[in-house]
Amino acid sequence: MIQTTDTDVLIIGSGAAGLSLALALADQAKVIILSKAQIDSGSSQYAQGGISAVLGKNDTLESHVEDTLNAGAGLCDPDIVNFTVEQGAERIAWLIKQNIQFTQASDSKDNCNYHLTREGGHSHRRVIHADDATGRAVVSSLSLKVNAHPNIRFIDNNIAIDLITGSSARCLGSYILNLNTGKVIVIRAKFVVLATGGAGKAYLYTSNPDVSTGDGIAMAWRAGCRVANMEFIQFHPTCLYHPNAKSFLISEAVRGEGGKLQLADGSSFMERYDSRAELAPRDIVARAIDNEMKCLGDDNVFLNITHKPKSFIIKHFPNIYKRCLSLGIDMAHQSIPVVPAAHYTCGGVMTNRQGRTDLEGLYAIGEVAFTGLHGANRMASNSLLECLVFGHSASLDILTKLKDAPPLSNVPGWDESRVTDSDEEVVVAHNWDELRRFMWDYVGIVRSTKRLQRAKRRVDLLRSEIQEYYSHFCVTNDLLELRNLSLVADLIIRSAQLRHESRGLHYTLDYPEQSSIAQNTILTP
Ligand code: FAD
Ligand code: SIN
Repeated sequence: MIQTTDTDVLIIGSGAAGLSLALALADQAKVIILSKAQIDSGSSQYAQGGISAVLGKNDTLESHVEDTLNAGAGLCDPDIVNFTVEQGAERIAWLIKQNIQFTQASDSKDNCNYHLTREGGHSHRRVIHADDATGRAVVSSLSLKVNAHPNIRFIDNNIAIDLITGSSARCLGSYILNLNTGKVIVIRAKFVVLATGGAGKAYLYTSNPDVSTGDGIAMAWRAGCRVANMEFIQFHPTCLYHPNAKSFLISEAVRGEGGKLQLADGSSFMERYDSRAELAPRDIVARAIDNEMKCLGDDNVFLNITHKPKSFIIKHFPNIYKRCLSLGIDMAHQSIPVVPAAHYTCGGVMTNRQGRTDLEGLYAIGEVAFTGLHGANRMASNSLLECLVFGHSASLDILTKLKDAPPLSNVPGWDESRVTDSDEEVVVAHNWDELRRFMWDYVGIVRSTKRLQRAKRRVDLLRSEIQEYYSHFCVTNDLLELRNLSLVADLIIRSAQLRHESRGLHYTLDYPEQSSIAQNTILTP
């Protein structure tokens, strides 16, 4: 008999989106929040730069909207951009109430009590932050509140395998693999929310943590939901390039505070690509770096902020300074070796402004979702804002519908009768490596029709092998993640193949121009 647990709302994912939603619901609903690792395993924990919102007296909502639309290269949904930007100050006030200690202003130049930093694409200082570890401050404060709330049960080390749908075409809950016991359990819920983050692990080099394997996108797709704009994978221009530094980001705020990108001979190059130079939107900066590295055959470029006083650097970037120093780089005196890496999944599960997906009872919020906010390129620090705004709007919608939700239904059990333990785990590990490498080589910063065809052939073969493996052997964390990643990789490639133009983060040598018509790429299962 399979173990079954019931709740009002099951939230899959404990990042900024999942935690803020749980707290917004918990006074009126029973909530289970699930993470396949620890509570702080998602990208939210690693966010550095901060959260964008109009807080300075010289800034305006119109300016934040305009910058977001410009970065999005014609594909943002203007209504959603307005909806999100308008709520920025209120969501930040909520965070402050949850005890997040944002960095205070040391002068009154922005007319704001908090220090506001600047990042690419923003025409004003509007990024509120907690030193250079904003995500850690947000996740640790929200986690304390979640763990203390009597209506919230947090379950770690449990990975959602698939959503359960009934004959009523409603989401009824999820099958979950308990990674401590190896047993599959069922959680039934009146509402299920995907808050599973992005899919950076589809690429060999990424700023994302290990959990970012696109599980929510894959589960929603298998449950019949549409996904959109998967070709728009954002590459962050400046990840630390060092053999011992796995996935460590050098925040865009370093460029916001005056850091210059340079080649090995110390010369600058960004002015040759864009008048905004280091503060151009990320797609432009990442492509410029990629081009310089390819032309010169260099492994990396450099980020130089040595013209600032050491005290300024340590005050503004204490964690980045410490991390670089631990690897022998004193950023007050030396430039930092950096490379672009996969950072953010702009596309995802299609939702409306309440976070509702195509499947009744199923919501998606945070990086897993496609809301229309980011268009063809997300502007820096708009992602945490999106997590908070859509966590809030989903909570209002769920609470309105809770009392009329249908009672929990019986769900089909989990059939393990045909599977045995695998004796070929090494195949799973090799397939992981292969997938991430060909995605980097063929579906990266610069694409072409031929490269995409090559990637498609490889992903088709891999997916058929993985499916065979999945139907014969007991499920493991690695196998489930690989199954999801390979599906998401397929969706990225198919979306990229459908876009016959270059726009925002999608650049292809065969269609270098931007088309006059801006259209989303929508895939239907
Ligand atoms: P995440 O925080 O990624 O959380 C995902 C959660 O889902 C995790 O708990 C994970 O364990 C869980 N999960 C996933 N799959 C399953 C499954 N199958 N079963 C159970 N649990 C599952 N954005 C900004 O706005 N400002 C910044 O300064 C900024 N800096 C960044 C720096 C770095 C290094 C990175 C990687 C990203 C940064 N971003 C920033 C982007 C932003 O952090 C993310 O987009 C955002 O945090 C995503 O939050 P989320 O709640 O959607 O998902
Ligand atoms: C950074 O600090 O550079 C990351 C900001 C973001 O991804 O929004």
